[in-house]
Amino acid sequence: MENAIHSLQQEIIDFEINTPEDLETFRLKYTVRKGLIAALFSQLKSVDPAEKPRIGQLLNELKQSADARLIEAEEKAAATASESSQGIDLTLPGRRYFTGSEHPVQKVLGEMKKIFSDMGFGIATGPELELDHYNFDMLNFPPDHPARDMQDTFFITNNGNAEPDILLRTHTSPVQVRVMLDQKPPIRVICPGKVYRNEAISSRSYCVFHQLEGLYIDKNVSFADLKATIYSFARQMFGTDVQLRFRPSFFPFTEPSAEVDVTCYLCGGKGCRVCKKSGWLEIMGCGMVHPNVMRNCGIDPETWSGYAFGMGVDRTVLLRYKIDDIRLLFENDLRMLKQFTT
Ligand code: PHE
Repeated sequence: MENAIHSLQQEIIDFEINTPEDLETFRLKYTVRKGLIAALFSQLKSVDPAEKPRIGQLLNELKQSADARLIEAEEKAAATASESSQGIDLTLPGRRYFTGSEHPVQKVLGEMKKIFSDMGFGIATGPELELDHYNFDMLNFPPDHPARDMQDTFFITNNGNAEPDILLRTHTSPVQVRVMLDQKPPIRVICPGKVYRNEAISSRSYCVFHQLEGLYIDKNVSFADLKATIYSFARQMFGTDVQLRFRPSFFPFTEPSAEVDVTCYLCGGKGCRVCKKSGWLEIMGCGMVHPNVMRNCGIDPETWSGYAFGMGVDRTVLLRYKIDDIRLLFENDLRMLKQFTT
């Protein structure tokens, strides 16, 4: 035992501590609770009782000398560290940090929101996990409407009629329902946000995308008001030269309904690959709010009238930044995102 103490003592004296790694090795080898000194202490109980005080004393000295070396080496390391920091070259340029950037979808959404808020629209948001009731029933979807089919909708619960069904909203129109239930007309809001559809994934469609919908309810609102608003938006968004085309269409929640095309802003309407040689790009659906929807929300359609519109955001992002695959908008690949730092 005594020999072991002496040889460990010598080892500790001889141990060279030059680097922070040496220091750590020393600490782990000798001074910690599972180190070599502690191991000797645990053997103390088997020492002859007569010898115990002397051996104990030797062990204590060993422990103290190891601790002293450790403290000394730590102080030396701290001193060198501050010495080297005094040698900082203040003329060196700072390191550039990557600060992140606005996602291209948010850039385009931001522009769209600005255009509408300049026209007096407020912004409303709502849950992405939505009740079937708000996503479909309140919007005048008949119970057997094909859009409720599992093909399009991600259902979270589907209990027949036992409990309310929860789904991932397939459009932001349920936000408009919530606004109508909450506020009295006149109402003028846009509802931007993510929506989900169970579509085949490809470079052109994804299971999640962004929409911006709008709702305006007041007295004597007409289709002419809707057209004027869309015209104003399209000119600011796509350029003052764009022309619009309203094609009759159908949505359960608007009557009459239309789909809106703008002259292709890539080829100026001459016809290109993107507009499939037609010269037109479809940008949104719109129409006059259906009286049933108003009634469902406690708004009297005899007194009030209104229009609604809804557009996809991602397609515009792809065209604007010449991105050829919609999936790139959702993968958060830094190689892509870093191209949008300003
Ligand atoms: N909610 C429709 C959709 O997702 C878009 C729309 C909104 C159409 C408002 C007309 C009026 O396809």
